[in-house]
Amino acid sequence: MNQSSLSPTLQASSRPAVAYINHQHLRHNYALLKQQSGSAHIMAIVKANAYGHGMQAVALTLADAGCQHFGVTDAREGLALRQSLSSHQHTAEITLLSGLFDIDDAKCAASAALTPLISAPHHIDWLQAADFHGAVWIKINSGMNRIGASDPAQLITLCKQADISICGLLSHLACADQPDHPMNQQQMQTFTQICDQTAADLPRSMLNSAGIICMPEHAMQIVRPGIALYGIEPIPSMPLGLKPVMTLSGSIMQLRDITVGEAVSYGASFLASHSMSIATISLGYADGVPRGLSNKGSVYIHGTRCPIIGAVCMDYSMVDVSCFAKAQDSIRVGEQVEFWGEHIAANEVAAQLHSISYTLFTAIGNRVQRIEVK
Ligand SMILES: Cc1ncc(COP(=O)(O)O)c(C=O)c1O
Repeated sequence: MNQSSLSPTLQASSRPAVAYINHQHLRHNYALLKQQSGSAHIMAIVKANAYGHGMQAVALTLADAGCQHFGVTDAREGLALRQSLSSHQHTAEITLLSGLFDIDDAKCAASAALTPLISAPHHIDWLQAADFHGAVWIKINSGMNRIGASDPAQLITLCKQADISICGLLSHLACADQPDHPMNQQQMQTFTQICDQTAADLPRSMLNSAGIICMPEHAMQIVRPGIALYGIEPIPSMPLGLKPVMTLSGSIMQLRDITVGEAVSYGASFLASHSMSIATISLGYADGVPRGLSNKGSVYIHGTRCPIIGAVCMDYSMVDVSCFAKAQDSIRVGEQVEFWGEHIAANEVAAQLHSISYTLFTAIGNRVQRIEVK
C-alpha cells in the first residue's frame, strides 16, 4: 500500500450519527427563564460539555443573547470556555462549580480569570500560592451534604486577608423537582440564616432549573439553570413552554422481512411472533443509546413511533417497522430516525429507564457529530 492510498479523504465520518442542536430553541428557553427569574442574573450551567450539547457553541449563543455568567465543572472546562468566549470578544464570569482540585487549578484560575467556588480553607491556601487576586463564590452546605461549608465566616475572613474578593454565597437544592418536598423550605431557611448571620450584604444564589419554576420568589441575585436551558421541563406538571434543543438522530441502514420464530440481535432476546418488517438503525450504545432500551423503547420514523426490538448493540439498534404497510416500499434505507428530541421527549425516554434526561444527554458518544441548527 503506498502512502497516497493511506491519505484520508473523508473530512468527517459519513456514518449517520448526529445530534442536531437547535440554537433557536436554546435562545427561546433562555428568554423564558430570564422572564421567570425577574431581576436576577442568569448563570447558565454549561458544565459537562453543556450537558452533552457542545459547550462552545451553546455558550456563544447564550453570550450573544446577553448571558454574562457561566457555570462549568473545573479549571479545564473553564479554560476552554474562556478561550472560546475571548476569541469572540465576550468577557463573562466563568464559575468553576466543583472548585479547585490542586494548586495548578488555582494557577489556571488566576491566568484565565476564572471564578472558583471554594468551601474549605485549603482552597484559599492554593489561591494564595498561585497569586490569585480575582473573585470566588463560597459554597454553603444547606442540607444536601455534598460539597459546601457549614460556616463561611472563617472563609470570608481568609479571603479578605488574601486580597480575594467574594462574588457571593451559593447553595444547591436537593429536591427542587418535587415542589412539595419539605427539604426545599428547610434548605432555604438554613441558607438564609447562614447568609444573614455571616454576610448579609453579599449576593446570594440558590435556584437551579426546577427551583426557578417552583420557587421564583427565591431567585435572589443570581439563578443557575442547567437542564431547562436544554429544553427539558424540570417539573412536568408545571410546564414553562421550553423547547427541546437536542435531537439525536440516526438512519436506516437495512430493511428486511422476518418470519415467525426468527430471532433478532445478541442473546436472541426478541423472537418474532408473526411475520414482520424490521429496520437496522445506525446508532448503538457507543453513541449514547442506552442498552436499557433493548426491547423497550421506541424511535420516531416518518411520522410514526416504531418499537426497538432485541438488544441495542454497540453500533446498531433494530426496530419494528411493520406498521408501514409494505416497509420496503414506504420507507427506505437512509430514512432519518429520531431517538429523542422534537417528537420523543428525552424525559419520556429517561422515565422508561427509571432515570433522568441528564444521563441521556451526557452519555452522547464522542463519535456522534453535533450539527448546529441556527
Ligand atoms: C451547583 C449547581 N448549580 C446548578 C445546577 C443546574 O441544575 P439543573 O440542571 O437541575 O438546572 C447544577 C447541576 O447539577 C449544579 O451542580
